[in-house]
Amino acid sequence: MEQLHACDDRPGPAALEPCIIVIFGASGDLTSRKLIPALFSMYVQGNMPGPFAIVGCGRTPLTGAAFKELLFARLGERLRDSRAWHAFADNLDYFPIAYDRQSFQVLARHLEQIDREKQTRGNRIFDLAVPPDLYPVIAELLGGAGLAAQYQTFPGWSRIIVEKPFGRDLETAVALNATLHEHFAEEQIYRIDHYLAKETVQNTLIFRFANSIFEPLWNRHHIEYVGIVAAEEIGVESRSGYYDNSGVLRDMFQNHMMQLLVLTAMEPPARFETDAIQDEKAKVIRSLRDFSIEQGSRICLGQYGQGEIGGRSVPAYRSEAGVDPRSPTPTFALMELYVDNWRWQDVPFYLISGKRLPRKETRIIIQFREVPHRLFREVLGQNINANRLLIETYPEEAIRLTFQTKNPGASICLRTMTMDFFYHQHYKGAALDAYARVLLDCIAGDHMLFWRQDGIELSWAFLTPVLQECEECPSPERLLHFYPAGSWGPEPARKTMALLFGD
Ligand SMILES: NC(=O)c1ccc[n+]([C@@H]2O[C@H](COP(=O)([O-])OP(=O)(O)OC[C@H]3O[C@@H](n4cnc5c(N)ncnc54)[C@H](OP(=O)(O)O)[C@@H]3O)[C@@H](O)[C@H]2O)c1
Repeated sequence: MEQLHACDDRPGPAALEPCIIVIFGASGDLTSRKLIPALFSMYVQGNMPGPFAIVGCGRTPLTGAAFKELLFARLGERLRDSRAWHAFADNLDYFPIAYDRQSFQVLARHLEQIDREKQTRGNRIFDLAVPPDLYPVIAELLGGAGLAAQYQTFPGWSRIIVEKPFGRDLETAVALNATLHEHFAEEQIYRIDHYLAKETVQNTLIFRFANSIFEPLWNRHHIEYVGIVAAEEIGVESRSGYYDNSGVLRDMFQNHMMQLLVLTAMEPPARFETDAIQDEKAKVIRSLRDFSIEQGSRICLGQYGQGEIGGRSVPAYRSEAGVDPRSPTPTFALMELYVDNWRWQDVPFYLISGKRLPRKETRIIIQFREVPHRLFREVLGQNINANRLLIETYPEEAIRLTFQTKNPGASICLRTMTMDFFYHQHYKGAALDAYARVLLDCIAGDHMLFWRQDGIELSWAFLTPVLQECEECPSPERLLHFYPAGSWGPEPARKTMALLFGD
């Protein structure tokens, strides 16, 4: 039975301060596929502040009208009949920009004019939806134009949203943070990891720390291993330029997989406050056992070959447009990690992510230990499956707990049953997608769902030596295993995959 609690303490539109959202790279994929749909859905649900303005910026010479048409065409069928779109689009504008000082001075004056016309009070959010090498350039230019200062050159606030990737190793992440900090204070910086805003991911904290029955079991005495899986059916799609230089470890592990691990392993914070939570997260990354392939740490890297998915033949990674035909870039990785503390000592955390696997699935698997005395094995000759808890983000947002029961009937035999909880069951309110959630939090000035500087740098500090070991390995073929697209990854990872998917 469900009991509802009045709980939505999200700031309503009245509590959100008016602001201008400036999107750099507004002609690109992220803007039309994620940012504008998210902002539009917030508008439709009444989650945008009043008043607001959105200014798309880019080198592409577009008028405001042409920008709206471009977005309208790209947003597709779902918007075609929507009157709301036209009302929303009244707040959209485009400002052609060159990435130089003069252009940013003109932008500053343009924003001041919008402030006067729309009463947006000098509050600005700058979203960097551009290739990552432009992040420091734009931060410098914003600083130079007086657009970064909080409450100084204008009355309102200034915030900057940085999309992933946040650096490509420890050195570049530290350098990027240093450039950002020359102009923006840490509390003005919002480093997005939209995985963190997925409902089931956020719910992991509530599930762990608002229920008394799981926490006593959440440790090495009761948990045999933890699996964190982000399987993708898609290949490299149109991102080959970026992906071939990055690979799965940078694309998925440094950010999303690390966040899932941290949420699963962290200690309860003393308060449900941003800094208290970020402190606990940082502690987990600091507790990760040093990872050295030389010293026997387990990693399996793979790259998809030609294969079949859903009855359709798909090309090998090396035959994808824009990929080097001899590319050593991994599209699959399995890492076995250990968190060296009292709670988790010697419990393996299997982190797995790959492209062109049979289906998209994102899940955290908590595998409990077997019962200590195998009472029924001797009587029934049956194995007793240990309990398993699944926290699924995709294809369903669900939590599932498996346990043993007796089969109905005269004879005694065991059967494994699953209790399912579907996240949206019985909930009639509107759901916010992950990008909308992070944008809303940025407008509200809430940092809870964003990476803090130390978290990013600790995560890179852990992963950079692993990347170096893999990339500078004298015989990379020893590490890179090929797998047919549509299979569950390379041969050396199959046993672990079977373990994690045998539910
Ligand atoms: N797409 C996604 O789903 C996604 C997801 C997570 C993170 N991200 C990150 O978000 C950022 C934007 O992604 P995206 O896919 O939208 O990128 P994109 O389509 O490749 O580029 C966005 C825009 O940036 C501008 N641009 C490109 N190269 C430039 C250059 N050398 N100098 C100045 N401007 C340049 C272009 O606009 P103009 O030519 O009009 O200036 C382009 O339309 C990237 O850092 C990406 O890693 C993207």
